[in-house]
Amino acid sequence: MAAPTAAEQASGTTSASRPIRPAIRRRPFPFNLYQTAVGKKWVMAITGIMLLGFVLYHMFGNIKLYLGVIEENGEMVYDIDVYGEFLRELLVPLFPRTWFLWLLRFGLIGAFVFHIHAAYSLTRMNLATNNAYESKRDWLAANFASRSMRYTGVIVLAYLVFHLADLTWGWIPNTDWERGEVQANVVNSLSNPVVAAIYIVANVMLAIHIFHGVYSMFQTLGINNPQYNRLRRSLAATLALAILVGNISFPIAVLAGVIDYEPSLLGPAT
Ligand code: HEM
Repeated sequence: MAAPTAAEQASGTTSASRPIRPAIRRRPFPFNLYQTAVGKKWVMAITGIMLLGFVLYHMFGNIKLYLGVIEENGEMVYDIDVYGEFLRELLVPLFPRTWFLWLLRFGLIGAFVFHIHAAYSLTRMNLATNNAYESKRDWLAANFASRSMRYTGVIVLAYLVFHLADLTWGWIPNTDWERGEVQANVVNSLSNPVVAAIYIVANVMLAIHIFHGVYSMFQTLGINNPQYNRLRRSLAATLALAILVGNISFPIAVLAGVIDYEPSLLGPAT
């Protein structure tokens, strides 16, 4: 062990007797749970399940891009445009139009904010703890997984901002974006190879994030037994792969002309 420093001699403590983290003021229950690393990991796991649910549901919804036009009240319209309108009309007349959708969106935004905050504060806790040890930690595998979660998480966040600006808010110049015209907006956007490449790369990052996330979530939830670890890995890989294949199929299908937008197909049904 290293000889005590002058500061340690003056304070009468050594690095071995000093607490790793300074004491923090405890908040009342249940907020004190979120002050612990285990509490933050639980918040990450629960919000991660909510976000994963959204990503799966969103991917299945987008499969309607392949279905082309259908007849709706005597008009030929794109199936995915009808679906977009259906989401805005959810639980009408119990709620005014778009209110229930906003309720779901607030839930999703809340999950997103907590997921990122828990990740950020766990990273800070982790760094502070690592620096407090006398010798350098050497957790190669753990570091690779958690570092890759940080990088892929930041890339997915940047992609999400671009994606919303592109398809939800119509902020990207020269894309002819129009509110409610989902099929046309997706085809206009993804027929640009640069945009298609951004979607493909970001969705590969998302799949890596989901794989590590689902795998370590089981550990957080206490399901960590050699008997189940193979199953855990297979489940994480299956989910990540299904989302990857589904999501990258959309830009590829637009570039290949399998998903297209043909205005001449629209109008009164004959
Ligand atoms: C290639 C894959 C994807 C396609 C084709 C796609 C397509 C779309 C479209 C067309 C919209 C707008 C819908 C509308 O305005 O009615 C949308 C909204 C959205 N997308 Fe995606 N998306 C993809 C992947 C993702 C991924 C991976 C995420 C999350 C990481 C995501 C998150 C969102 C969110 C949060 C919204 C806003 C939902 C809302 O307004 O309530 N999307 N997406």
